[in-house]
Amino acid sequence: AIDIEKLRGATGAITIDPGYKNTGSCKSEITFLDGEEGILRYRGYAIEDLAEKADFLEVSYLLIFGELPTAAQLEKFENDIRKYTLVHEEMKNIIDGFPKTAHPMGVLSSLTSALTAFNPKSVNVKNEKELYEAVCKTMGKFLVIATWTYRKRMGFPMNYYDNTKGYVENFMRLMFELPTGPYKIDKRVIDALDKLFILHADHEQNCSTSTVRIVGSSHAGLFASISAGVSALWGPLHGGANQAVLEMLQEIHDNGGDVAKFVLKAKDKDDPFRLMGFGHRVYKNFDPRATIIKKAADDVLGALGVDDPLLDIAKQLEKVALEDEYFKARNLYPNVDFYSGIIYRAMGIPVEMFTVLFAIGRLPGWIAQWKEMRLNGEPIGRPRQVYTGYTARAFKEVNER
Ligand code: ACO
Repeated sequence: AIDIEKLRGATGAITIDPGYKNTGSCKSEITFLDGEEGILRYRGYAIEDLAEKADFLEVSYLLIFGELPTAAQLEKFENDIRKYTLVHEEMKNIIDGFPKTAHPMGVLSSLTSALTAFNPKSVNVKNEKELYEAVCKTMGKFLVIATWTYRKRMGFPMNYYDNTKGYVENFMRLMFELPTGPYKIDKRVIDALDKLFILHADHEQNCSTSTVRIVGSSHAGLFASISAGVSALWGPLHGGANQAVLEMLQEIHDNGGDVAKFVLKAKDKDDPFRLMGFGHRVYKNFDPRATIIKKAADDVLGALGVDDPLLDIAKQLEKVALEDEYFKARNLYPNVDFYSGIIYRAMGIPVEMFTVLFAIGRLPGWIAQWKEMRLNGEPIGRPRQVYTGYTARAFKEVNER
């Protein structure tokens, strides 16, 4: 007779799905995405409405706590985040250890991880109050250290959060304000950045979010899980694409602006080059975020009076690629990263900071997903494999090999 107890937990049928193209890793109530129809909703609200009518902290609250905040709840959330924007001064010693040339994403991942050492209570949250504190600390401190990666690179002194200003405005100040004088920020820049952060705020089980959930599933703390998410986001196939897009557009520009040549190169299977900012694992029709960002690029550059030849190249590239049979057959459309870099550039953000901006935008999504996973009591993430190595082999002593 079969011993059911012995079979329990034994290797049964294992599905293999490289890249988890068709594997759901969890149930989630946070973000709805329909790749065929190009629909994206946070907690049921259309991305178009949120980008138009809400601000980034409102959307962060929605993602993390499940409902749009009342005015009082929003004010409390902003105040609670402010309380935690001071970063331990000794964190600066860690930054000092990095070479000036270090990529900001590498520095950000390390600094986020280092936050665990300076905030031990936030590592193993035991109740709702500690969880709420960890959420506000992460929102507050991450923004500050993200900008410190840039200050370090520039050799500027580190800046502190200004409690009289909003979250997104503080980002620009933390980046650019110098002790030598006040920094004037165009309100349109803040509004555009706010919108960009909203568009990046969550995207269900993408690579970095899945990373955050799987790291957190071992009951690693929020900072450690987010630090891993930053590393996952850095890759050029994910968030790193926004930097790669701009570098590609610059290369096309420097090579005489021949977009057709680069489209041809992207189709060549012997050439590893891909059109950066094109294609998406889930969107097979259009990326609704790209539609909003494309319009925002026109608006922001127009309002700031910036005439960027790279925007023209991006538009030509999009036109040629969308008419091309290769791209049509594979449903490859511009994604969220295709136009965002052009807006960042117009705002004066250096290209190596682009993915850091993505990380700031994605932060509430990572937090919301981590929180949902922990509150659902999900089991540790531990995929199986199909072993393709040797069968049992006899060991040979070193002098017999
Ligand atoms: N340029 C040229 N060909 C492409 C591109 C591209 N940008 N993207 C996909 N393809 C081709 C592939 O070569 C493949 O062709 P084949 O069927 O002849 O082999 C086919 O389209 C399907 O591509 P996959 O790589 O299998 O699709 P997958 O879902 O695994 O990858 C990804 C999606 C990683 C986004 C891919 O489209 C890509 O590399 N794009 C460029 C990088 C980029 O913009 N990343 C940002 C994504 S959005 C985000 O993370 C925020």
